[in-house]
Amino acid sequence: MKSASAAAVALAIAGLSGLAAPAAAQNASAQLLTVSCSGCHGPGGRSPGAMPSIYGRTAPAIADALRDFRDGKRPSTVMVRFAKGYTDAEIEAVAAEIAANWK
Ligand code: HEC
Repeated sequence: MKSASAAAVALAIAGLSGLAAPAAAQNASAQLLTVSCSGCHGPGGRSPGAMPSIYGRTAPAIADALRDFRDGKRPSTVMVRFAKGYTDAEIEAVAAEIAANWK
């Protein structure tokens, strides 16, 4: 029973992702990744509070910051833990998305 329902979930997920064109799916995932950034850095990277604002930056500046946080080269309280969840490809995608849209 357990494996049957797992298979049903897998089929449902495969069915859902089959609806989106590959290019659109890629954009969606970069956009989704940046949703979590806005949770702390504010909508569009304009922070309303104590977190630094991150709008108006270039993609390389954001990607370098994320990699440096992740790799422990830049001291941080939160970003080190957060950035560890990102691959290099995801960092590039997030940085490009933010540089293009958070102006
Ligand atoms: C849980 C809250 C949180 C989330 C989520 C978060 N950040 Fe941060 N971010 C911080 C904090 C806090 C700092 C200050 C450094 C530190 O102490 O970690 C920071 C610093 C930064 C900086 C450096 C800012 C500066 O002025 O030097 C960048 C760039 C950045 N974050 C990008 C991102 C991106 C991109 C995402 C999404 C992938 C993200 N952050 C998600 C909390 C967060």
